[in-house]
Amino acid sequence: MKIFPVFSALLGILVSVIGLELDVHSKSSIQKATSLIAQGLLDYYEGTKYGGTIGMFSWPYYWWEAGGAWGSLIDYSYYTENDTLVPIIKQALTYQTGEDDNYIPLNQSTTEGNDDQGFWGIAVMAAAEKNFSNPSDPKKAWLTLAQAVFNTMSARWDTKDCGGGLRWQIFQWNSGYDYKNTVSTGCLFNIAARLARYTGNDSYSDWAEKIWEWFDSVGLLAVSGDSYYIYDGVEAKACENITKYQWTYNQGLLLSGCAFLYNHTEDEVWHNRTKALLKGSRVFFQNDTMYEAACQPANTCSQDQRSFKAYFSRFLGLTAVMAPETSDTIMTWLTASAKAAAQSCSGGTDGHTCGTNWFKHSWDGNYGLGEQMCALEVIQNLRVHDLPPPYTAHEGGSSIGNPAAGYSVTTANASPLKLDGGDKAGAAIITIIISASLIGSGIWLIL
Ligand SMILES: *[C@@H]1O[C@H](CO)[C@@H](O)[C@H](O)[C@H]1NC(C)=O
Ligand SMILES: *[C@@H]1O[C@H](CO)[C@@H](O)[C@H](O)[C@H]1NC(C)=O
Ligand SMILES: *[C@@H]1O[C@H](CO)[C@@H](O)[C@H](O)[C@H]1NC(C)=O
Ligand SMILES: *[C@@H]1O[C@H](CO)[C@@H](O)[C@H](O)[C@H]1NC(C)=O
Ligand SMILES: *[C@@H]1O[C@H](CO)[C@@H](O)[C@H](O)[C@H]1NC(C)=O
Ligand SMILES: *[C@@H]1O[C@H](CO)[C@@H](O)[C@H](O)[C@H]1NC(C)=O
Ligand SMILES: *[C@@H]1O[C@H](CO)[C@@H](O)[C@H](O)[C@H]1NC(C)=O
Ligand SMILES: *[C@@H]1O[C@H](CO)[C@@H](O)[C@H](O)[C@H]1NC(C)=O
Repeated sequence: MKIFPVFSALLGILVSVIGLELDVHSKSSIQKATSLIAQGLLDYYEGTKYGGTIGMFSWPYYWWEAGGAWGSLIDYSYYTENDTLVPIIKQALTYQTGEDDNYIPLNQSTTEGNDDQGFWGIAVMAAAEKNFSNPSDPKKAWLTLAQAVFNTMSARWDTKDCGGGLRWQIFQWNSGYDYKNTVSTGCLFNIAARLARYTGNDSYSDWAEKIWEWFDSVGLLAVSGDSYYIYDGVEAKACENITKYQWTYNQGLLLSGCAFLYNHTEDEVWHNRTKALLKGSRVFFQNDTMYEAACQPANTCSQDQRSFKAYFSRFLGLTAVMAPETSDTIMTWLTASAKAAAQSCSGGTDGHTCGTNWFKHSWDGNYGLGEQMCALEVIQNLRVHDLPPPYTAHEGGSSIGNPAAGYSVTTANASPLKLDGGDKAGAAIITIIISASLIGSGIWLIL
């Protein structure tokens, strides 16, 4: 959304009392509201503009968030039963796969983290589960790409420090390499769980169990009564000093992963874990309305953090379908949050730019790709029960797989690329900024 400061302030005052109209029970109302929000989201897309790169969003949105945004638009197409955007989504997802078709494109590889690759992996996993229009090249089939991400990420499972887990960064020259974090390891968990259900191959569920046990053993999984919470990460070398921030997307990655595993295995262990993570998710709601508790109250959320509620909404929707016992709680949260989010979408020159804070019943003055994604996901996920649940290879899915996808000499085990001094310096600066914004802007939630 391009905002012209003076006009937008005036317009903001004029329209901020109206908000986006939303009747949460009406398909056409949800379609209308989400199509306006999606239009705002695509204002940030570079790929349809002169000189822009396919698949990329404008600065300051990093490549990982583009993976998140395409995932949101796959959901948009599916839940609103609208295939208008299918061609551009498909083009973006297939253009950014990289030389080895594993989402480590050379343009990104100097700064790419495990979590960045993970979010593109999650997008293509959803494409397989939603029977999203198949690419003609089998190397770029959605399931094959998801397996390629799984294979290359699981190859980086690192038992040298901390008994396992994934480092935040893929490459040693990036700061963050010495940090093992939940989002990277959680992406692998989420993809493993979904591949287990989609393909029926037990190797993936074995991996998921191993990853879960690592979270537990290292102390990233916090148990309090019958609730599970999940912390941000841990210093790799000493395997101590847990960074105790709690983010919505981390909770959602593990929650929905457990729900997929429960649905697939029907094992009570995974059901219990799902329910405990759901109870822990309460810290992210007030009056049933979702918020990014670690940064939103102080209005210090970084650009990245401002998109987290989008993934959380997506993962909650999937959980409600995969573990029906969670549905009542989740639909109550999504309904209240969707209404509140719609009211926040009353800013900008277009009059339906969305804000960060959904408690205000009006626009809060913030805007960006993250805000559009969050409102879009929370509203469209109201429709999870109106459409078929995620497909599998045996039921409804048609994506071609390749269990050995993704390996190659250049990137399989993250063997260092040849970088000159300038590239390395650039890479380091970017990651320092990212780490600073992570460490500087959160508050710890009290359990
Ligand atoms: C379908 O999606 C396109 C692109 O987002 C949008 O312009 C159009 O209004 C949508 N149609 C309906 C019926 O929602
Ligand atoms: C890589 O960057 C170049 C130069 O900006 C651009 O032309 C190309 O499309 C990019 N490729 C990908 C996969 O992003
Ligand atoms: C852990 O924290 C303590 C106290 O702040 C500090 O002295 C120690 O160096 C930290 N360990 C690591 C591995 O960062
Ligand atoms: C699941 O939780 C219930 C209720 O707390 C408990 O009785 C049961 O033993 C648990 N099952 C497993 C397999 O842990
Ligand atoms: C798995 O998900 C489907 C679709 O929502 C549901 O019908 C089924 O009951 C779920 N299985 C279990 C064990 O809950
Ligand atoms: C929650 O609802 C109560 C009662 O309506 C209200 O006083 C309170 O301000 C609300 N909390 C937030 C964060 O909006
Ligand atoms: C999935 O897509 C394939 C190929 O387009 C199609 O033949 C099949 O009917 C679709 N399955 C469902 C459940 O829609
Ligand atoms: C199951 O997955 C594993 C791990 O990716 C793979 O090595 C194996 O070939 C797969 N088995 C089948 C039957 O696809």
